[in-house]
Amino acid sequence: MELVKIKDLNKFFDKEVIIHGFIENIRNLQYVIFIILKDETGKIQVTIEKEDENNKDLVKLFDNLMTESTIKVKGKVLENSKVKLNGMEIIPNDIVVTSENKEELPFNYKDLNNVNIDTRLDYRYIDLRNEKNKLIIQIRSSLIRYLRDYLINKNFTEINTPKLIGAASESGSEVFEVKYFDRKAYLAQSPQFYKQMAMAAGFGSIFEVSSVFRAENSNTSRHATEFTSFDVETSYIDSYHDIMNLESEMIKYAFNKLDIEYKDKLKDIFNVEIKIPEDIPKLTLSEVYEKLEEKYNYKVDDSEKTDLTREAEKLLGKLALDLYKSDFIFVTDYPADKRAFYHMRDENNILLGYDLYFRGVEITTGAQREHRFEEVVKNAKEKNLEEDVKFYLEFFKHGCPPHGGFGLGIDRVIMILLNIDSVKEVQFLFRGPNRLTP
Ligand code: AMO
Repeated sequence: MELVKIKDLNKFFDKEVIIHGFIENIRNLQYVIFIILKDETGKIQVTIEKEDENNKDLVKLFDNLMTESTIKVKGKVLENSKVKLNGMEIIPNDIVVTSENKEELPFNYKDLNNVNIDTRLDYRYIDLRNEKNKLIIQIRSSLIRYLRDYLINKNFTEINTPKLIGAASESGSEVFEVKYFDRKAYLAQSPQFYKQMAMAAGFGSIFEVSSVFRAENSNTSRHATEFTSFDVETSYIDSYHDIMNLESEMIKYAFNKLDIEYKDKLKDIFNVEIKIPEDIPKLTLSEVYEKLEEKYNYKVDDSEKTDLTREAEKLLGKLALDLYKSDFIFVTDYPADKRAFYHMRDENNILLGYDLYFRGVEITTGAQREHRFEEVVKNAKEKNLEEDVKFYLEFFKHGCPPHGGFGLGIDRVIMILLNIDSVKEVQFLFRGPNRLTP
């Protein structure tokens, strides 16, 4: 007999099935035992009549059994309008205890209001039994699936690049060093160099979903030392506007699909409504500062205007809503000096790239890359990186089409989408400056 998932039980009325899950609740009454059993798809009532002679052994099982134990139940699925939960129940003829909960849980995962986040993370396997927390990870899985589907439908190839590397790709100060036999290696901060290598290898369009590592000692709600980067790179582009369009369309597709799959749960459990962006507005960095001053009287010194301050980012979220009724906004025209050497820049040293903001939080950096050998060598030299990235510069020596791409931070997207306070809550297991366990 096949194991049936609880959400599918309504296809088995009056039939025998096997279900297997955690005991959520036991009500051991005078004449009857009601058990609520749950698996990752739903909950069902299992009803044991105590008077029935055949049930003697089953009844005994529940003498001392604690909730959160797991049991395998063989029984008949009955429609029963008196049962509040789904209007059905299982009448078991056999139950096996497959794992026993031995002691009280460290906290009540059904009510996490007063449980400290560190305790929750210490016992993340208990914390994730909470329905809302489990749903966050399930929605995250769906988001990645839809983003992936979109690209695969467009003939992108998924690649897997090394995470143990010999040179830093983003900034030297934010890289984790690891002992690699008798020399040093680093943990990849981004697959940047390798996604561009795929362009030199003639793949046309690729993507990768992977863990990346940043030695940033920042304890903000938006930073983790290991996070999931959704990286895309594509060739034969005319400008970074092609990259912005690609990313807009990809996000639209995935959000639409999420909306179809989770509409009710998003509303009931997270109190959010997915707004699918029509056209994501675009502003240059200096336009952002002009508008923030105009609208909210926000002023900063010119010296700070080479990037967005955190305060400006938050106000940008509001600006996007007020002016364009959009949760998303692209910001372009950053000065190239503060940015990575591999981005293409124009004759005025303005970056041919962008950051994408989602309700005031940066979720993506993207750009056209410098694919001209002499130019990219010059840019690397300016940052004193020529030696470190020698292997990378070689990629542009033997023909490499114009290309660009972006890195989308999955943790941040889920955090903002679901209105959650911190990336700690949206990673399966958070990694930060003070957390390396479990
Ligand atoms: P960047 O360094 O901007 O760009 O990173 C891309 C996106 O990754 C997310 N992100 C983070 N998320 C959680 N914790 C962190 N510490 C963290 N740091 C970054 C953000 C950010 O927008 N190689 C380029 C991408 C490219 O040009 O293709 C890069 O890594 O959402």
